[in-house]
Amino acid sequence: MQEGEESRVLDVPEMAPYARHVFICSGPFCDPEGEGRRLYALLAGKLGELGLYDNPLRVKRGITPCLGVCHSGPILVVYPDGVWYCKVDDALLNRIVEEHLRGGRPVEEAVYHRLNVDATAYSNDVK
Ligand code: FES
Repeated sequence: MQEGEESRVLDVPEMAPYARHVFICSGPFCDPEGEGRRLYALLAGKLGELGLYDNPLRVKRGITPCLGVCHSGPILVVYPDGVWYCKVDDALLNRIVEEHLRGGRPVEEAVYHRLNVDATAYSNDVK
């Protein structure tokens, strides 16, 4: 290091592994009744062990003001799978948790859009 240069030490956070990230829209255009916020709160309890910090299959949840769809909400998307669900209600949320997040198989009849057509992306294998 030359005189006058400052060392740059990055204070980066430690990152625990996680397998999936679920985003639920809370915007008023797709979901005027605010069901997305309620489903987001419910999801915390439904994840169980999938929400534990040291579980390699951990699922993070997030809420967002808009996913660019703006109708037929609540909209829920699962990444990195790139699988999108619309009109999510309690029953569909239960199936998404059990079949998709826990079982690794999207709820096919409720999927309305996919970003990733690589079926291996749905695997629960931890890489
Ligand atoms: S307001 Fe929900 S997708 Fe835009």
